[in-house]
Amino acid sequence: MAENLPNENQTNGHAPPAALNVTVDGVTFPAQPGELVIAAAERHGVYIPRFCWHPRMKPVGMCRMCLVEVEGMRGLPPACTLPVADGMVVHTQSPTVKKAQDGVLEFLLINHPLDCPVCDRGGECPLQDTTVAFGPGESRFVEEKRHYEKPIPISDLVLLDRERCILCARCTRFADEIVGDPLISFTERGGGTQVLTFPDEPFASYFSGNTVELCPVGALLAKPYRFRARPWDLEQDDSTCTTCAVGCRTTVQSSGDRVVRVLGIDSDAVNHGWLCDKGRFTHESLEADDRVLTPLRRVAGNSGQFETVSWAEALEEVADRIRDALAGRGPSSVAVLGGARCTNEDAYAWAKLAKGVLGTDNVDAQLADGVDPVLVSALAPATIDDACAADVVVVMGPDLKEELPVLFLRVKAAAQRGAKIIELSPVRTGLSQYATTTLVYRPGELAAVTDALVAAGDPGDVAGVSGDELRTARELLGAASSIVVAYGRSSLAEPAVGVEHSVVRLAETFPSARFLPLLRRGNVRGALAMGLAPGLLPGGIPVGPGDAGPWFRAGGWPMVPTSAG
Ligand code: SF4
Ligand code: SF4
Ligand code: FES
Repeated sequence: MAENLPNENQTNGHAPPAALNVTVDGVTFPAQPGELVIAAAERHGVYIPRFCWHPRMKPVGMCRMCLVEVEGMRGLPPACTLPVADGMVVHTQSPTVKKAQDGVLEFLLINHPLDCPVCDRGGECPLQDTTVAFGPGESRFVEEKRHYEKPIPISDLVLLDRERCILCARCTRFADEIVGDPLISFTERGGGTQVLTFPDEPFASYFSGNTVELCPVGALLAKPYRFRARPWDLEQDDSTCTTCAVGCRTTVQSSGDRVVRVLGIDSDAVNHGWLCDKGRFTHESLEADDRVLTPLRRVAGNSGQFETVSWAEALEEVADRIRDALAGRGPSSVAVLGGARCTNEDAYAWAKLAKGVLGTDNVDAQLADGVDPVLVSALAPATIDDACAADVVVVMGPDLKEELPVLFLRVKAAAQRGAKIIELSPVRTGLSQYATTTLVYRPGELAAVTDALVAAGDPGDVAGVSGDELRTARELLGAASSIVVAYGRSSLAEPAVGVEHSVVRLAETFPSARFLPLLRRGNVRGALAMGLAPGLLPGGIPVGPGDAGPWFRAGGWPMVPTSAG
């Protein structure tokens, strides 16, 4: 995970203030007011060792690994809590700093078990690397180290080895500050201080895997990765999680031709390095015993039995059946489903096969749980970043924490930064405690609530929402200089028409508002843009008379449907 990134609380879309100058190890460069010395130095190529500091979390100055010398300042301040000042002169490699680094590492290693050969972190361990690069070489301590039972399971996915913990509080701060589920914490005092979950309460966070990735030692371990590989065995590629529609950036790592681990990449626009456990650990399904690996053909007679066939046989049979359908009842007798978890290129090929080769417009990538694709294409689009920088975010859709988990983290962080969240939902959700107001309406009556929200005059009580709540929401919308509406269906039972009506009313009333679709499945937005929706050709061009048929035919499409499917 890239380390030198702004905390969400520091990036609120405003132009950066004028720079000031600092000098680190003899090199003078500009830095931003409020920027921390550790971050400014790293931007200019000076790495100050650290354990507890993380650019996406508030600094705590707990580990003392980042001590530096500042001219004119007494003592050695931690660079991770020290903001830059104009003219500041910092030394990160002076003999005094070096002595402090030796001392901090020597202290940290008093109790660390040094069981690197059997530790999953071995070979990619910040404590190992920092000790080699900045440590004293040998320790003067010979006393018995602390002992704990090792490792103990703290959830179905995470193991905890307390002997290895260096008490940096990255895991506890992540759970508390970023997720809002402080399920892991410090207990005891002094030399007995240890990180632990609460008695009888598992680490039941949707985001527990991030603590494993954040831990600078092998104290928190992911069960699925344990003893699977060493860093030098791994092959890896950057990718995008397709488990839900957030599209978090990932690194997929494999060893011995098997995917063994997925890590988060810090994409500023999307996931800030975080992954939910669903996205992080879903790769285990690749090895599931009941995974279908070859084509199966139903045995004649519909007995519920299947037989394995080759790809050539399967494709030939599919082609025969499609040919028969086209010859007998025409293109509209064929429907093409899916494509929402494909890349845009695959989705385009799928759309071209359906519309350009088979000639059918009966296609669907949303599988009946989405909203009108024509409307999605027509609305002014918002990105996740737009939503998080807006004054007011209207959320009407699924429970973000359940269905689009990392978007929940982003919206929660935006709320903590000061964005006003207006939530419209038939039930309270994981986001409700961070929302400025949650309008809980009777299921199926969203349209009435939105009508009342954009109307003038006394709203009264509507669909289970009180007039006071509606007035509060109206005031927030009226005072906003930027509005993003995150919209989708709260559940399969919620009719699409209510969401569609609401979105149209908000777009009419607030013409500068932008819209972030909360659709299910990996790349459903891309699939719609590639024409995997009835009535739309790639690029959002409508199907119908006067359409872009000639243009597509000139581009190599044998045919183009003339009426919407
Ligand atoms: Fe830090 Fe890891 Fe200990 Fe948590 S378990 S406090 S992340 S060393
Ligand atoms: Fe994957 Fe969605 Fe979780 Fe991100 S939020 S890791 S895209 S499942
Ligand atoms: Fe600065 Fe830990 S990184 S005190």
